[in-house]
Amino acid sequence: MERLTARLRLRAWQDADLDPLAAVNADPEVMRFIADGSTRTREETAAQLERFRGEWRDHHGHGHGAFAVEVRSTGELAGWVALTVPAFLPEILPAVEIGWRLGRAHWGRGYATEAARAAMEFAFAEAGLDRLVSICHVDHHASARVMAKLGMALDRTTTVPAHGQPVRVTAITREQYAAGSHRA
Ligand SMILES: CC(C)(COP(=O)(O)OP(=O)(O)OC[C@H]1O[C@@H](n2cnc3c(N)ncnc32)[C@H](O)[C@@H]1OP(=O)(O)O)[C@@H](O)C(=O)NCCC(=O)NCCS
Repeated sequence: MERLTARLRLRAWQDADLDPLAAVNADPEVMRFIADGSTRTREETAAQLERFRGEWRDHHGHGHGAFAVEVRSTGELAGWVALTVPAFLPEILPAVEIGWRLGRAHWGRGYATEAARAAMEFAFAEAGLDRLVSICHVDHHASARVMAKLGMALDRTTTVPAHGQPVRVTAITREQYAAGSHRA
């Protein structure tokens, strides 16, 4: 599952990722547009890390899930990019969502787009997926911009039942992705 980009390594999770991931999830600026905006405790992050590992294990390494995103030049964990089922939004299921979360120190360098491009290539070329969605709060302009740069187009705006937040859903099919790749 490991993928290299110009500046990043997408890789499997390690025990040593807990501390940096807990720091990312404890930052209110990072969590501002995620679910109800609350931060996560270290215990919640440990459970998330186990889930991330389990998703890949369940499919014997051949499915999809969350990649750890490491900065190649420093070895630091920047955050993650994920291919997961958005169970929190039943109206769009079945679907697989591409999502991203980086620590604040790593914002503004194009890392989210770079990591997501590699994950999207993995989704369509290796994981056999036909369509990806991405979901963000309607006021989250940075994430919306990442989606646009990835060639994702508006599917709908709706509300997440669990917490009532308004979200924008974008989508791209394998065919649209292939057409865009040929143009590039
Ligand atoms: C969203 C996030 C992943 C973006 O990461 P990033 O590496 O900075 O993203 P990129 O640099 O690849 O692209 C961001 C784009 O949004 C733009 N942008 C950033 N902040 C913006 C804002 N407030 N309004 C409009 N555009 C904005 C950037 O200029 C860039 O576009 P450009 O390349 O055309 O200049 C990062 O901010 C993050 O992890 N946030 C917290 C977690 C989160 O919200 N995850 C997504 C949940 S839906």
